[in-house]
Amino acid sequence: MQIFREIPPLRAFVRSRRQAGDAVGFVPTMGFLHDGHLSLVREAGKRAGCVVVSIFVNPTQFGPNEDLDTYPRDEAGDLAKCEAAGAAAVFLPRVWEMYPSEPLTTVRVAGMTDRLCGASRPTHFDGVTTIVTKLFQVVQPDVAVFGQKDFQQLAVIRRMVRELHMPIDIVGMPTAREADGLALSSRNAYLSPAQRADAPRLQQALQAARAEVAAGVLDAEILIERAREKIQGSPHARIDYIEVVHPATLDPVGVIGPDGAVMALAVFMGETRLIDNLRLDDRNAA
Ligand code: PAF
Repeated sequence: MQIFREIPPLRAFVRSRRQAGDAVGFVPTMGFLHDGHLSLVREAGKRAGCVVVSIFVNPTQFGPNEDLDTYPRDEAGDLAKCEAAGAAAVFLPRVWEMYPSEPLTTVRVAGMTDRLCGASRPTHFDGVTTIVTKLFQVVQPDVAVFGQKDFQQLAVIRRMVRELHMPIDIVGMPTAREADGLALSSRNAYLSPAQRADAPRLQQALQAARAEVAAGVLDAEILIERAREKIQGSPHARIDYIEVVHPATLDPVGVIGPDGAVMALAVFMGETRLIDNLRLDDRNAA
């Protein structure tokens, strides 16, 4: 496995693998890799002969009071995991490699980034779409794989790729979970034992909503209120949002109809903000 910190040698490597006949798969990450990330790497390996993983804690997607400085890092562990999962190359740029000058260019997907996580993290998605575009420009992949845990991020990136005619196949992979249902996240490392014990409530509330839909409860307000009650049973939980939205447009859904719906939520367990989501109709895609 090759390791690159600069753009030109990574580009030369990708070019040579492409000339040798390989398709290029790409998994962008912020590191501190867990099994969820590795499932993305393995999926990329099924779809492309050459898989590039990027590890870059992107400063522009963190708000002023967020955890940029304390975001967990483990470069040596991450490299070993990438190699075991079959990556051909890992790109670990420094901040100045990706942002060589004060950026004047922002890629913004309007509207669908203003709600859900975008309401409480107003600059977050501009940072994500800008860095993902820059990484796509560097790697020029045929296929890029993202996790469905970041459901809004995946929908926004799909929209951006479509609107900007980027010739990249975007693949979403199911959320990897602990045995008790908690979605894997690098930020789970921040949870105290008591917060960790209550964190599966998020997934339990989503599963209960899904069961209610199967039983015929289609009114989003009722579903949201019941999920709220379940999560608020924990003294550690502070709900940021619980919403029922259209799976592709992210528009709020009042009554679940033929397009189906996703319940998405963000909850602070202590200081740690956790997100999760579930497709509420029978397609179980989120
Ligand atoms: O999902 C993430 O880890 C990040 O938002 C991404 C896509 C790597 C961009 O920094």
